[in-house]
Amino acid sequence: MKTTPVILAAGKGTRMKSAKPKVLHPILGQPMGWYAIQAAYEATGSKPVVVVGHQSEEVKAGLGDAANYVLQDPQLGTGHAVQQAEALLHNETDLVLVTYADMPLLSADTLKRLVAAQGAHDGPITMLSVVAEDPRGFGRVLRDEGGEIQAIIEEHHATPKQLEIRELNTGVYCFSAGWLWDALRRVELSPKGEYYLTDLVSIAVSEGLSVQGLAVDEPGEMIGVNTRVHLAEASAKMGQRINHRLMLAGVTMIDPATTYIEPTVTIGRDTVIWPNTFLRGDSQVGEDCSLGPNTVIQDTQLGHRVKVMASVLEYAIVEDDVDIGPFGHLRKGAHLAQGVHMGNFGEVKNSYLGPGTKMGHFSYLGDATVGPNVNIGAGTITCNYDGERKQPTEIEADVFIGSDTMLIAPVKLGEGARTGAGSVVNKDVPPKTLVVGIPARAIRKLT
Ligand code: UD1
Ligand code: CA
Repeated sequence: MKTTPVILAAGKGTRMKSAKPKVLHPILGQPMGWYAIQAAYEATGSKPVVVVGHQSEEVKAGLGDAANYVLQDPQLGTGHAVQQAEALLHNETDLVLVTYADMPLLSADTLKRLVAAQGAHDGPITMLSVVAEDPRGFGRVLRDEGGEIQAIIEEHHATPKQLEIRELNTGVYCFSAGWLWDALRRVELSPKGEYYLTDLVSIAVSEGLSVQGLAVDEPGEMIGVNTRVHLAEASAKMGQRINHRLMLAGVTMIDPATTYIEPTVTIGRDTVIWPNTFLRGDSQVGEDCSLGPNTVIQDTQLGHRVKVMASVLEYAIVEDDVDIGPFGHLRKGAHLAQGVHMGNFGEVKNSYLGPGTKMGHFSYLGDATVGPNVNIGAGTITCNYDGERKQPTEIEADVFIGSDTMLIAPVKLGEGARTGAGSVVNKDVPPKTLVVGIPARAIRKLT
């Protein structure tokens, strides 16, 4: 049985007070709508159809090709929105799952239960309801004396008696597709000038068909984001969910409340994360690492037993047993091989540091290729920019670079070479040769 999600995202999002479409506001590094697409896809195995309207081109570009898109223009209500998916889905799917791009916390598990419940149901609709003290402006679920669902009444159309009902419509449903498309044509314009999806409930009942309710266990999943206050609440809840999952999988967090991990990150067992640490984007962390406090890691691969303290790592590769910081900065294209030590105030960009190489104190390496077991003395700088372009530096195995050496690129230091403190190296240095001075001159061969 095939189920296809239809995710509504055509609304204005006025209360965000933003030039950016609501569903593109990020939560932990991903646009809000990404979470709805992921959950719906995970629950059904089918590519969702997203209904776009306001700022549709931006929304499509921002959410990308994980979904198909249909345009709703003008926006005439939730029923009308779902109807826009008919052209794509007619005869293509058995069930239609309806969700919202501004409900990022709705989990794949809950959606799976909804789909399974409709799969086992005789009637055309299973709807998710929630019992909550705060009605949040949601529609109320009306049941008859026998407890059968009869209708959904929107808050602004409800009588005072109906307003007391605490069973609320989450707006999330699973429909039998064969019935849905025809029934949508029978929805009438509401007094507010919209075609309400909720009217399908009373339409089914009037046809003698049964509507099944499924209560959500976790009302927190139903947080719809309408304002930036809701956005912050949803971000915090999403962060907690990710952190719980990781802790249960064997990651230690000293202070989960100040540990910000994006959903795209993976972390191995026995890794310890200290407070105020951000793990972002496409980052993978191995086992038994220690990260933070005060660390940002973006799109970076870390091996096992890596230690990073108070540092920023971006678009880098770090192999096993490396330690970095405090106050290190890896930039795009930095690659630290096994056992590299990078102490305080180091910066590495677009450079490879071979196994066991040490760079203890305030140095800059850019566009450099460094062999194994090299010592980079305090204050060493690759002068890689000649004012017009970036130039490479090559440092072979076992080189010893004295403190405060300037390496004027392009330049190459042969295996086992040494530079004296304060040297300015503007010519290649042969292997096993000591150079000193400004500009550096060879003074002897080393054995
Ligand atoms: C809807 C339900 C209500 C339920 C609530 C839960 C209806 C009529 N009411 O109310 O029973 O309790 O959700 O959150 O369905 N949208 C479109 N196109 C439109 C109109 C809306 O894509 O033409 C999208 C909006 O972007 C929004 C969502 O659908 O994300 C909900 O629309 P809205 O009109 O705000 O419905 P609610 O008042 O929230
Ligand atoms: Ca509304």
